Amino acid sequence: MRWRTETLKAVPVLVCLALAVAPAGEARVTALLPYRDPALTAQARAADLLSRMTLAEKIGQMTQAERGAVRDPADIGRYALGSLLSGGGSAPPDNTPAGWADMTDGFQKAALGTRLGIPLLYGTDAVHGNNNLLGAVLFPHNIGLGAARDPALTARIARATAEEVAATGANWTFSPCLCVARDVRWGRTYESFGERPDLVSQMSSAVAGYQGTPGEPGSILATAKHFLGDGGTTFASSSTDGYLLDQGDTRLTETQLRALHLPPFRAAVRAGVGSVMVSFSSWNGVKMHAQARLISEVLKGELGFQGFVVSDWAGVDQISPDYSVAVRTAINAGVDMVMVPNDYPRFVRALTGEVKAGRVPVARIDDAVTRILTQKFRFGLFEHPLTDRSFASGVGSAAHRDLARQAVRESLVLLKNDHLLPISSSVKRLLVTGSSADDLGRQLGGWSVTWQGKGGRTTTGTTILAGLRAQAGSGVKIDHLENVSAAQAARYDLGVVVVGEAPYAEGKGDVRDLSLNAADRRATETVCGAVNCLVIVVSGRPLLLTDQLPRIGALVAAWLPGTEGAGVADMLFGPASFTGRLPVTWPRTNGQLPVGRPQDAGPPLFPYGFGLSH
Ligand code: GLC
Repeated sequence: MRWRTETLKAVPVLVCLALAVAPAGEARVTALLPYRDPALTAQARAADLLSRMTLAEKIGQMTQAERGAVRDPADIGRYALGSLLSGGGSAPPDNTPAGWADMTDGFQKAALGTRLGIPLLYGTDAVHGNNNLLGAVLFPHNIGLGAARDPALTARIARATAEEVAATGANWTFSPCLCVARDVRWGRTYESFGERPDLVSQMSSAVAGYQGTPGEPGSILATAKHFLGDGGTTFASSSTDGYLLDQGDTRLTETQLRALHLPPFRAAVRAGVGSVMVSFSSWNGVKMHAQARLISEVLKGELGFQGFVVSDWAGVDQISPDYSVAVRTAINAGVDMVMVPNDYPRFVRALTGEVKAGRVPVARIDDAVTRILTQKFRFGLFEHPLTDRSFASGVGSAAHRDLARQAVRESLVLLKNDHLLPISSSVKRLLVTGSSADDLGRQLGGWSVTWQGKGGRTTTGTTILAGLRAQAGSGVKIDHLENVSAAQAARYDLGVVVVGEAPYAEGKGDVRDLSLNAADRRATETVCGAVNCLVIVVSGRPLLLTDQLPRIGALVAAWLPGTEGAGVADMLFGPASFTGRLPVTWPRTNGQLPVGRPQDAGPPLFPYGFGLSH
């Protein structure tokens, strides 16, 4: 039987006595220490536990290591580590729910075996489903959910994701990304819900989806990321010292920064988000990881954020080549937990040295540790540290796939339709071509089984072509041709060209040019020049179709739909009508970016909010 926190609270507790059977077998009664008493508040338990901790144990709680860096599980006790993570694609050799649960439980038992037995927070980037787990349902990436404009759906997806995460023993997701994407040449555009702060703020509904009732089964800690202004960086003229946009410099006045990028974090804090991740980017030349006023005064003070702030992956290191300077700057700025994530002994030594030298006040350490412990108590980690394996049956479940398929339908945006959709019953010969017609990996995009994602059949799912074959009536002949001539295309009643992008993540997806790749451009021009054509765009952002548009009969933005590609076909044969609306402006040329700049290059191809119904 699972004792839930509430049940335990119902027990009249003056001093709740626990019978601990000592090795000798004689029963000895030990008073339950306050921090172990679930009847007390998380704050009270954290205060009691903090009072019992050594400096080494406190600094350990502020240390997050990547699972692959922990060569010896004994290090968890040796360094009193407070958290581990799986970076993108970092999975146990047995990439199944049981394989994950055995791994995370192994780490947890090492933590529970320490002097104070403080359980670990285990974090993972479950950003569109539990995407590190093979066989998990992968939902449309955030840009598609922004097009759906359905906060309740976003919350339901987050809940389903939380359950598929809980099945693995992880208890923390580095999601939702509440970035406001102002330049769609950015490789993380698809992680954004859109270009407007009000739309992104609405999608902070994901926080409630992930966190549910903290401490309840299936509830996991969420992360609002990346604080602050990650989607507003300035396009670099050259990529000599990094990416073109990602991790760049957001050059805005404070008024502009607050107006464009702060509202989603205000919404997430109001929703009770338990953690916030700092952005790699800078604001007016100063790294966000060093921005004491924004982190401590604005986020924690003005917004009243009570959770803890976690750095991004080695984000602290980018502050200064002097690691000790970097560490003390970040911690004094208000970073509470450091995603080291590899050389954690070095971090522990550096921070210990800074505290002992008086350059990092003990009070700052105590504040950071209190914030971290409070979330651990809030989410019931002390009562339920090990995996709830009852959630394993939900991984890849039909119910979650149905939810994902609904999200795909709602995410599609109809941009042009010269009476081609819904596909008429008179269409008997259908041609399907294009780089993303029958490629699950391209539908998934980045953060899918691996960090960068990759083409091909990388996990369980349905391609757009498979969905078309299943949906089309028995009298419809569908041919999938990877390369097609105009003469071949002319023999069909309708040509469906599914174009798109190869998967990418983060700065590796930054581009100067949003044009279709050559093969897709050729396929579009060949097919649309020979027969009525429907073009479907499977991408993390708008792609340039300006020159091809006049010959395109119907145009659908499908974003990165995830494993349930059948949701695309659901909308092509009707009768349901499209409801999606553009979450970002669709530019006519590369020169029209970022949005909001003086439109000296004329109107966009399709404006923010555009979308047709049939
Ligand atoms: C990455 C990303 C961040 C992610 C973290 C852990 O670099 O910037 O979004 O949560 O590292 O994978």
